[in-house]
Amino acid sequence: MRDQARARPVDMIAPAPGGEGRRAAHVAIIMDGNGRWATRRGLPRLRGHQAGAETVRRIVECCPDLGVRHLTLFAFSTENWQRPREEVTGLMALFRRYLRRDTAELDRNGVRVRFLGERGRLGPALRGMMDAVERQTAGNATLDLVIAINYGGRDELARAARRLAERVARGEIAPEEVDEAALAAGLDTAGLPDPDLVIRTSGETRISNFLLWQCAYAEYAFVPQLWPDFTPEDFAAVLAEYASRERRFGRVIAGG
Ligand code: FPP
Repeated sequence: MRDQARARPVDMIAPAPGGEGRRAAHVAIIMDGNGRWATRRGLPRLRGHQAGAETVRRIVECCPDLGVRHLTLFAFSTENWQRPREEVTGLMALFRRYLRRDTAELDRNGVRVRFLGERGRLGPALRGMMDAVERQTAGNATLDLVIAINYGGRDELARAARRLAERVARGEIAPEEVDEAALAAGLDTAGLPDPDLVIRTSGETRISNFLLWQCAYAEYAFVPQLWPDFTPEDFAAVLAEYASRERRFGRVIAGG
């Protein structure tokens, strides 16, 4: 038991036959189950989100060891505004606190922070902090931490399509130039590779409007742990299982 406790999460990932290529370079996570975690303990839902923020810290920290180069987290969806006012206000305060407390350490650890989503509806204080952390960490290259706030896949696609339509209307591009590459370049994720693996915690098996375009060929893992209970060891186990999968991207693999 002792040795097991000492084992690092990275040791759980057996070398895959394809070597480094089988590592999930970009992992996207739907962090679900904070509310249930709190309710089961008789606590207010916000306490679950606070515990979830601690999980964010632990998972971000272990990414470099696990070979994860880009980590995208679904923190607040375009639909989450419909939650009780107190929960929404509490979540916004939690995002501000996370950025205030963790930016210096993220920067020291070589983490580049980026955000996805429509920022217009967010408060000016949070928006200012998001802009500042993006600027401060822009030169870092150990890990991209991509946080989706007020994000919805359909909303992102509609915004990208609208921008392309405006460029066509201004005569900057011809309608024939609207292709997959042009659309992808207008998404919030421009410049990021598509996710290799999407993880959703809490046993729910939905994608809830997350990265609809980008996950066309992603692998999915639905795990039972509630997000506050999800450990680096659980993360390593999901990555190890991913490493054993065969990804075909619609092709036929020779000999298969
Ligand atoms: C879903 O669980 C979780 C959210 C809507 C919020 C996620 C936010 C955090 C983990 C807070 C910290 C984030 C950062 C980036 C610092 P739920 O509330 O829907 O859970 P339930 O389905 O059990 O109710």
